[in-house]
Amino acid sequence: MIPVITIDGPTASGKGTVAARVAEALGFYYLDSGALYRLTAYASLKAELDLADEDAIEAVAKALAPEFKGGRIVLDGEDVTDKIRMEAVGVAASKVAALPRVRSQLVQLQKRSRQAPGLVADGRDMGSVIFPDAPLKVFLTASAEARAQRRFNQLKEKGITANITTLTQDLQERDRRDMERAVCPLAPAAGAKILDSSNLTVEETVAQVLTWYKECLAA
Ligand code: C5P
Repeated sequence: MIPVITIDGPTASGKGTVAARVAEALGFYYLDSGALYRLTAYASLKAELDLADEDAIEAVAKALAPEFKGGRIVLDGEDVTDKIRMEAVGVAASKVAALPRVRSQLVQLQKRSRQAPGLVADGRDMGSVIFPDAPLKVFLTASAEARAQRRFNQLKEKGITANITTLTQDLQERDRRDMERAVCPLAPAAGAKILDSSNLTVEETVAQVLTWYKECLAA
């Protein structure tokens, strides 16, 4: 059985950074499942589709064939690595992610990432739906203020100006949509360990996950 560590949590909780570093430390593969929803949203926006049209968006998700090469993401020949990180794409991603048939279309793509020697998967439903048999499930949270501040700093580093109040509101709106949707709402999986990173550095957060994983292996 190929081990999986799932790291789920709300937007901008630091899941991506933490998951990638845990994967690196263990020599495991890394799955950024949010990128699949972002790619679906990006392709749908580009095709000027109505984001509530489940038939149309399901077709986009079904045809999705992203290439992950050397940290870049290429979709239909276009390098979309930075474009899918835009706030507008994130908001659109949370809308298409609420469509049940879109979620089902992306299941196989996610399960296929489970490869030896192991996988660290980050998202919203990695522990609850996609990899329910994962030996370690983490639910990573942080206060909305801490998350908005982190997102603000990330954008600033990229030279993008943002407003902290708008960012906080966007985060809260996206959290609400992710938690209140009928299918796979954002919630800790059964047996998940809750990690509040509001007052932790990335290194401390990574160290905690690795400690839990060692405990899991020893158990
Ligand atoms: O994690 P990230 O912010 O990149 O995800 C973008 C959106 O995709 C989230 O707001 C959420 O609605 C959706 N998502 C999801 N299930 C996942 C990963 C992401 O519903 N496993």
